[in-house]
Amino acid sequence: MGCESNNATPPGPAIAPGGESLDSMRIAEEIASGRYRGWSRGVDPRIPEAVPGFDAPFFQAGLAGYSDAAMRIIARRHGCPYCVTEALLDRTLLAGGRGFGKADLGELHDNVPGGAEDQPLAVQIMGSDPREMAASALKAIEQGKRPDRAYRAIAYAHLTHDPSGAVVRHTPEDFGPADGEYEEVSCGEEAMCESEATGHGRWPMSEEQREVTETRRHEVAPSGSSPVLSSLRDAASAAGSGFSSLSFSTVDVNLACPVKKIKSKARGGHWLAEPAGAIEILEAVREAVPARIPCTVKLRRSYDDSPEMVESFQRIFDAAYDMGYAWATVHARTVEQKYVGPSRWDLLREIVARRPDRVVFGSGDIWSVHDVFRMIAYTGVAGVSVARGCIGNPWIFRQARMMLAGQRPTPPTIAEQRGVLEEHYRLALAANRRMRHPDDYTSRNMRKFGIRFAEHHPESERVRLRFIAVKGIEEWQRVLDEHYSPR
Ligand SMILES: Cc1cc2nc3c(=O)[nH]c(=O)nc-3n(C[C@H](O)[C@H](O)[C@H](O)COP(=O)(O)O)c2cc1C
Repeated sequence: MGCESNNATPPGPAIAPGGESLDSMRIAEEIASGRYRGWSRGVDPRIPEAVPGFDAPFFQAGLAGYSDAAMRIIARRHGCPYCVTEALLDRTLLAGGRGFGKADLGELHDNVPGGAEDQPLAVQIMGSDPREMAASALKAIEQGKRPDRAYRAIAYAHLTHDPSGAVVRHTPEDFGPADGEYEEVSCGEEAMCESEATGHGRWPMSEEQREVTETRRHEVAPSGSSPVLSSLRDAASAAGSGFSSLSFSTVDVNLACPVKKIKSKARGGHWLAEPAGAIEILEAVREAVPARIPCTVKLRRSYDDSPEMVESFQRIFDAAYDMGYAWATVHARTVEQKYVGPSRWDLLREIVARRPDRVVFGSGDIWSVHDVFRMIAYTGVAGVSVARGCIGNPWIFRQARMMLAGQRPTPPTIAEQRGVLEEHYRLALAANRRMRHPDDYTSRNMRKFGIRFAEHHPESERVRLRFIAVKGIEEWQRVLDEHYSPR
């Protein structure tokens, strides 16, 4: 289980009193004309300034179990300007591979940048410890340029001094299982895979590359300063040059996921109830990541609806911008709400109105292209994170581009649906090629996409049932031949 919840309520409108009458076509036209809030190129200029190439006011959200390189590339081919990986646990990143027994979030191999076509891309990290978050953010941005143990030394630098103040040299055992809860594993072949989707994904690095770049600098903190912060600073400055241009463009810190705590530690959205800890994480990550890489944060609108929690949200939100975060994406549900019931665009509007000078993205109940433009106009956000509304529906991005070009959005034809189903499968198979049974894995994994793609088909229920029963590539092809062929 990832960031999703099994008892999510079916698609429905957000709470947005007075928003029913908003004309999405007119809003899109106004944005495109350059009259809207001075967005001369159809987007708040601060967005492409922070992330070159992010040229429209919408993006594809992190979606655990879905938003892998294949889904992202399909979205981009339909006009999506920016994507976020699913949430990756800091310790998964630091451990460097698969087989992370209790990880309930994304696998590394699903989140390798899919080459030149998969840019710009944000890596989303989530965890419980500021140092681990900082070290894993740096590792992601550097694409594992240093040996794994160097990142772990950054994360656990506080272990490098014994009680007399002498430096203690790390051994791999120092970085063994934490609390007996996590299983440390070496980097499996799947985690090492390059994304064949476009042939450029390259994270983590090979052992050979690691040896070449090996350094012990982070095992010894300079005296007279905080070992944690100085090693983070050191690491950040060392990262100033030489990381892959096909790396992640942004680090997104997840303070939103409602999945329960690990042991008694907070993570994701649970940090919204502990603002001091949340702020510490934000600081540590911003400190570690090179200054030219923007950091952003994903939040829920509050932990719950109590005045105390609303105040905590504001504290974290303000602190993020004060320390230089480029933007926050705010999911307009509470953590307590998980995915049950409507999101509150009216409250999101209040959050934006409190500091209209800030770049804020909105999330929640974006089910159609019209919701994208309605949310922008109703809440005042600078852009929209498209989540469940783009699973099996990359056309939402094409439609948004059409509306920005002054055209009425059109639904996908059967031929277009078939084209995307074939392409998505091909990309997924390429990305999974180093799996032990790539066909089986891809067929099983693609079922959940097929089920959502079926919603566009005139015989959606029949096609949905066919996709549910798919067990291999031949059956997948048969469904396409029988239901997606010209009549
Ligand atoms: C299956 C699923 C997985 C998700 N995974 C993530 C994730 O990894 N990172 C994240 O920031 N949000 C995640 N979310 C939350 C979405 O990005 C989004 O904020 C939320 O679904 C609200 O938008 P919607 O109502 O338009 O779907 C996930 C949501 C779902 C349904």
